[in-house]
Amino acid sequence: MRYSTTALFAALASTISAQAEDWQQCGGMNWSGATACGSNAGCVKINDYYSQCQPGAAPTKPQPEPEPEQPKPTESPSTGTPAGKGPGTTLQSGYYWIRGVAAPNFHKYMQTSPLYSTGSALLGDYTKAGQFQVLDGQLVQLVSAPGEAVKLLYGVVSETRYINDNSLSVTFSETKNVHGKFAWQGDGLTWTVAGVNRPNASAWYVCAGQKLYINLGNYLYQTPAGCADQTIHYYNDIKANN
Ligand SMILES: *[C@@H]1O[C@H](CO)[C@@H](O)[C@H](O)[C@H]1NC(C)=O
Ligand SMILES: *[C@@H]1O[C@H](CO)[C@@H](O)[C@H](O)[C@H]1NC(C)=O
Repeated sequence: MRYSTTALFAALASTISAQAEDWQQCGGMNWSGATACGSNAGCVKINDYYSQCQPGAAPTKPQPEPEPEQPKPTESPSTGTPAGKGPGTTLQSGYYWIRGVAAPNFHKYMQTSPLYSTGSALLGDYTKAGQFQVLDGQLVQLVSAPGEAVKLLYGVVSETRYINDNSLSVTFSETKNVHGKFAWQGDGLTWTVAGVNRPNASAWYVCAGQKLYINLGNYLYQTPAGCADQTIHYYNDIKANN
């Protein structure tokens, strides 16, 4: 039998490009040659720049598919259980209304739903405004009626990051917050925690269901869909107003 030289080279070339010989290179950075080895050899990585076909090595297995990315956790608006009759619509000494002062939450006030209950911190109508204060780094809501023994709920900050991986929920609870500290900066409500360097400690989001989240990212930058950037401020007029 006779082969033309061209056909022979073509056959040889296709063998070379398909499969690397034992002890020859089969991979490495920018390697454009064959990456498969003979049936009794495996492609063994020597370093980032060089992999070699080694007889007897385990045949190279295809890399497993990366896990599909899990959807970010989101929270549904949470309503709670009333924890007291509440202080009503006249501001009690030592407490504040807390409200947004910019669209779309201009003069929307911090509250829980139903009034004076456990559950998510919300920004809502002035007629349902709660009364708050920062005490020893805790954001507290007054839920007892005037003249009763003082009862407080505490704004508890989630460890979990929601929505865009940069949002922490705040839920009013009978137990104290152990994640970070609230403070006033001027009349703005801030939250800080050791180990998290917030670009703006007064940055908040108001998202679906008017839920408030601490925004760990920049104010007015990469705002997640369905959320609005807010700063929130104390207000101490005797009545909340529109
Ligand atoms: C691989 O290719 C890139 C892009 O051409 C080049 O910058 C790099 O130096 C190359 N690496 C090696 C190890 O040749
Ligand atoms: C945070 O952002 C608000 C809104 O732009 C701004 O008024 C405030 O000065 C900023 N605070 C800091 C510490 O940058």
